[in-house]
Amino acid sequence: MYIREASDLELDEVLFVEREAFGHDVEAELVRQLLEDPSAKPVLSLLAFVKDRAVGHILFTKARLEKNQTKASLVILAPLAIVPDSQKQGIGGKLIERGLQLLSKSWVDLVFVLGHPEYYPRHGFKPAGRLGFEAPYPIPDEHADAWMVQALRPDVIGSVNGKVICADALNKLEYWRE
Ligand SMILES: CC(C)(COP(=O)(O)OP(=O)(O)OC[C@H]1O[C@@H](n2cnc3c(N)ncnc32)[C@H](O)[C@@H]1OP(=O)(O)O)[C@@H](O)C(=O)NCCC(=O)NCCS
Repeated sequence: MYIREASDLELDEVLFVEREAFGHDVEAELVRQLLEDPSAKPVLSLLAFVKDRAVGHILFTKARLEKNQTKASLVILAPLAIVPDSQKQGIGGKLIERGLQLLSKSWVDLVFVLGHPEYYPRHGFKPAGRLGFEAPYPIPDEHADAWMVQALRPDVIGSVNGKVICADALNKLEYWRE
């Protein structure tokens, strides 16, 4: 298995992985729109391959704090997708880890995700609401722990807070129902 950045020419592979993983077109269409969205840039789009077949994809897109605090650079992880026959083999975890490693070497301070609260804490994510970060749309109390954050720099958490504004293509209520 190997992981590398997806090139612009690999859109079909990316969308195929998204459709297979989720079993419908919603996330594939979201990814297609995010990759064209200027407000999402810069993006980090990684593909995982097994025997040269694309089996996993992860996308990180730019976000910002509503109060326009310039002290922190933000991204949102969405979506993460592994094709069914390659799930539960650690590939999702490796895509998260590689993404975080690359982002920590670039300009990123905080990574947010709305996802399974039993899965992402294994890779360092913590509930974001308690740390002062509001999601782009309100998350019901019973799912509050699904909105998570991870700091890639020391001292960022505590020095900034507020509502997170995501890229335009992701800024729709339908994507924020966990
Ligand atoms: C969720 C997903 C990305 C995980 O990727 P993966 O490569 O299968 O996961 P890993 O192999 O890294 O980790 C497997 C572990 O995660 C757990 N896990 C997988 N999906 C989970 C879920 N929906 N909720 C909680 N835990 C989950 C597995 O039970 C497994 O636990 P174990 O190690 O105790 O057996 C993948 O199953 C997938 O693409 N699912 C369909 C799309 C989706 O739901 N994407 C996530 C959007 S937030």
